[in-house]
Amino acid sequence: MSTALTDAFVVLPGEPLCGRVRVSGATKNLGLKQMSATLLAPGVTALRNMDRVTDLDVMIDVMRAVGARVEWTAERELTIDTTGPLSPEAPYELVNRMRASVNVLGPLLARCGEARVAMPGGDNIGSRPVDMHLRGLEAMGAEIRVVHGFIEGRVNRLGGARIVLEFPSVGATENLLTAAVLAKGQTVIENAAREPEITELAAMLNRMGARVLGAGSSTIEVEGVEGLESVESVDVIGDRIETGTLLMACGIAGGEVTIEGARLDHVELVAMKLGEMGLKVTPTPDGIWARADDRLQAVDVATLPFPGFATDFLPLVVALLATADGTAIVTENVFDNRLGFVPELNRMGADVRHEGRHAVIRGVPRLSGAPVRSLDVRAGAALVIAGLAADGETVVLDPHHVDRGYPDLAATLRALGANVVRRRG
Ligand code: UD1
Repeated sequence: MSTALTDAFVVLPGEPLCGRVRVSGATKNLGLKQMSATLLAPGVTALRNMDRVTDLDVMIDVMRAVGARVEWTAERELTIDTTGPLSPEAPYELVNRMRASVNVLGPLLARCGEARVAMPGGDNIGSRPVDMHLRGLEAMGAEIRVVHGFIEGRVNRLGGARIVLEFPSVGATENLLTAAVLAKGQTVIENAAREPEITELAAMLNRMGARVLGAGSSTIEVEGVEGLESVESVDVIGDRIETGTLLMACGIAGGEVTIEGARLDHVELVAMKLGEMGLKVTPTPDGIWARADDRLQAVDVATLPFPGFATDFLPLVVALLATADGTAIVTENVFDNRLGFVPELNRMGADVRHEGRHAVIRGVPRLSGAPVRSLDVRAGAALVIAGLAADGETVVLDPHHVDRGYPDLAATLRALGANVVRRRG
């Protein structure tokens, strides 16, 4: 198949980056979860700063499938009416397209006393089970069965429980938190995920009348309430993963960028590591400024749950280290197959050897543009930014993976002077 006719990002090397952009809303990692949370109470909520990524289309279908009315009421404002009646079943065709659909399980069980949600499968970054979600709901008194590929939950009313998570899973913390708010009594989630998205979700729940304490720390305490009320509007915060992506793009292409609406405290470890590599990163009154003067220096990186170096940045930092000066060791501690994209990067002349969760990266001065394939959203973005430091044309095929989480990565990079287009075949 000729790559000239297919959907792709086409990247050409150019001048160092220069300029300012506003970070997109965190639709994928937060907006979708806030959509699920609206199911907890009847009413109408407008979610603002919802940038359109393709995972959002799936979530809109999931919400409609369970009985919510969803419509765009302004350019980046999605309005959800959960007045009901709800039909608590999320079909396989949707869950299969996006794992975050499983986030409706907790709210549906809490509000309707029953839920039937297709069991998500694995994906290109790993096996991704939901056992912690299910065990936590069982601890709250739900009867859970996994039959014929569906998770079926039933309960009169959830009851408070002490739940110790084996790992600070973001999805499990969200599902259990959104179930516990309507449970009878107190729920304590120990070893909870501490990501900023959890804090934002809890803030929304508290505005709905929930009593959640400690979100953002490892122990979340929830005093269940009898009922919640929908909130009129919610502003989705800026996407920290897009922020990190743009910082890495600046590191790889050189130059000076300002990312408006970005928060340094949400990307602290990334900024610290990039700082060690030689990128200057400073907060501004409304965002983050960064400048790369020289070729960056190699440093070792290991991913960890927040506030550690996020796993989402792993492919991006591998791309960055591929052109840094020196050798680095990178370790992935969250998912089992984040490094599956390495052979694609090596097709661009990178010198990366990987085994399981570890990679050794020997920096080369320049990469060489080539047709490559994106395997997941962040790996695809990594190949796009690698193209900024590659001689000749880089064509990143299967760009739909990238569209799942970035509203328009090519346009965002072009606003900083990069030569990137999203070709539609
Ligand atoms: C979310 C983010 C993703 C991010 C990840 C970790 C969204 C849409 N996705 O994914 O971008 O990379 O957090 O920050 O917000 N696990 C189990 N059993 C469970 C649940 C999880 O074994 O019941 C494992 C997973 O397989 C994985 C690890 O725990 O190895 C972390 O997963 P988790 O934090 O749940 O990630 P997600 O919520 O799926």
